[in-house]
Amino acid sequence: AVRNFLDLSDAGGNAIAAMLADAQDRKAARAGWPKGKPDADAPLAGHVLGMIFEKNSTRTRVSFDIAMRQLGGSALILDSGTSQLGRGESIADTARVLSRMVDAIMIRTDDHAKAEELAHYAHVPVINGLTDRSHPCQIVADLLTMVEHGKALPGLEIAWLGDGNNVLHSILEAAGLFKFNVRVGTPAGYEPESEFVELARSAGSKVTLTNDAGEAARGADVIVTDTWVSMGQDHAEAKLAAMAPFQVDADLMALAKQDAKFLHCLPAHVGEEVSEDVFESSQSVVFDEAENRIHAQKAILLWCHGLLG
Ligand code: CP
Ligand code: NVA
Repeated sequence: AVRNFLDLSDAGGNAIAAMLADAQDRKAARAGWPKGKPDADAPLAGHVLGMIFEKNSTRTRVSFDIAMRQLGGSALILDSGTSQLGRGESIADTARVLSRMVDAIMIRTDDHAKAEELAHYAHVPVINGLTDRSHPCQIVADLLTMVEHGKALPGLEIAWLGDGNNVLHSILEAAGLFKFNVRVGTPAGYEPESEFVELARSAGSKVTLTNDAGEAARGADVIVTDTWVSMGQDHAEAKLAAMAPFQVDADLMALAKQDAKFLHCLPAHVGEEVSEDVFESSQSVVFDEAENRIHAQKAILLWCHGLLG
């Protein structure tokens, strides 16, 4: 069967653990190399990844491209603005055409159902590069970053502050797979979808939902936040006002464990969801996290091609 990666559960805990190990090995093996030089084994030599972007991106776009180069292959981009998708060609036809031309497809889109439809009609692996519902590739990079910084995943206390969004959904999915706990601090009305909370809880993770930022942060091993206004959402004043008490600032970080790390998928809005002193502090590992998108993506691509897990 074709291996799609629309959500973390498509791979499961064992395969993601294999991805994390492979990512660490490949990252270590190429330390100091030029970014575009292929890994010695070039496992995806000759392979092409097609990337569909219906939303903006810096990290996902560049890291998938560089990941493919490092695996010996290449990537190409279809922007909704310049491809026939932007003129109404169907997802179904796009999927069938691209399946004849590329070896895997990554899609970033507003509606998760479009990614599912693409996977349904494609004959090659489809990877979710962010939808309104989830951002699984980001969380593989986040897990890698936590592990690299000495955080063993089982039993970890992760605090999420701010908006209960797509990135949090994938963290909750990972919690169930890796048996860590999540304290979610959001304003009332901005909680994550209950489906993801239930998924984590049914897998044995403790998920705390609170409207008190301090309660979420207290004793945490890792503090994570994200933009208060995701792509496609309204820049509503009422939402920003509700989010204000959930800014990750020095006082909030001081409630977490002394060796706690700060994560943010980026792009950041410094002065909104995170204060400048926390963002620039030694506890902040956001640029390691950004780099790890490359290493995580390589492992995801290898898994999709049946070369891992
Ligand atoms: N974190 C992330 O997905 O960044 P981009 O939107 O720049 O791809
Ligand atoms: N939650 C953000 C993540 C961006 C990488 C968004 O969906 O815009």
